[in-house]
Amino acid sequence: MTRGGLRTGPRREPARALQPRLLFLPPAGGPYAEDGRDRFAARPADLDGLPGYQVFGARPVEARRLFWYRWIAGHQISFSLWRVISDIVLRHGDDAPSEREIDTLVACVDGYSAMLLYSSTVPREHYHAHLRPRMALQHPAFSGAWAPDYRPVRLLLRGRFGWQADRSGSALADAVDRNHRTHDHIADHLVPDGKSLLQKTAGVTKAGVTPDKEDLYDNFFLTIRRPVSHAEFLAQLRERVVELASDLAENGLFPEVDGRHHPVVTSRSDPVMRPLITDVVTAVARATRLAADVREEVRA
Ligand code: HEM
Repeated sequence: MTRGGLRTGPRREPARALQPRLLFLPPAGGPYAEDGRDRFAARPADLDGLPGYQVFGARPVEARRLFWYRWIAGHQISFSLWRVISDIVLRHGDDAPSEREIDTLVACVDGYSAMLLYSSTVPREHYHAHLRPRMALQHPAFSGAWAPDYRPVRLLLRGRFGWQADRSGSALADAVDRNHRTHDHIADHLVPDGKSLLQKTAGVTKAGVTPDKEDLYDNFFLTIRRPVSHAEFLAQLRERVVELASDLAENGLFPEVDGRHHPVVTSRSDPVMRPLITDVVTAVARATRLAADVREEVRA
């Protein structure tokens, strides 16, 4: 396992010192602004010729910086892909989306699965020493269930739209299956006792998602809600995909930490997930390209 199935383009600048940045999103479920602050949109990042990557990184990395960056960037890219999914499913409700939109849904669900893998490349001990305590300090019951943009995605991943019943065995059903398996796998890998923070605190904190919890969740992942145009939304996503490709080219999917690698998915893992190992960049880049195509249909 070596290259990520990508052609090796011209060498790019290393990821901007792996510095997480703020993600600006419109309110969950709310419209895009007509005029956002299109400061990136004038020169959108180029997704052609993204570099390939080694599965196993060749050089030791600065673990705290790298895995904090990946945890934030992987989540922010997921939020953006969820938003694209929401744009499509909310527009159609129980009417089936077009074939092109279904292709985009498949690509976004696979892109989200790739981000589950990317975020969880953190060694387990590091996750328990640094990332998890930080989330628990934000709130003791901190949970993905509080993600504001996730609601319509949950419906899709649970097959709740009438038109999904006709698509069993289809590319979308397969992508949803891959996504469930990937989330279950990374959760088991990072937290072998199986208990999320939410489950650990059940009975201690009052359950239920509130606007405050949604804000705490956004805030942890450096996500700010304000008017954002579709062009600015896409430009931020493209920029992150370019940075992600650069990080992987530099550090490998499974970086070297303390003299060894810490693979999450291996050649012995569920065959359904294995292609993800080499396809992280191609999966998010494909979703991002299709998201741009959907724009006019969404805004029509
Ligand atoms: C890598 C990044 C991760 C992302 C983006 C993510 C995302 C999510 C989302 C969106 C939900 C809500 C699902 C729903 O309501 O249907 C969720 C729930 C859940 N996740 Fe994750 N997850 C991640 C990592 C983990 C890890 C490491 C664990 C290990 C325990 C885990 C365990 C759970 C559990 C048990 C739930 C059910 C609700 C809860 O108890 O919090 N997830 N996750």
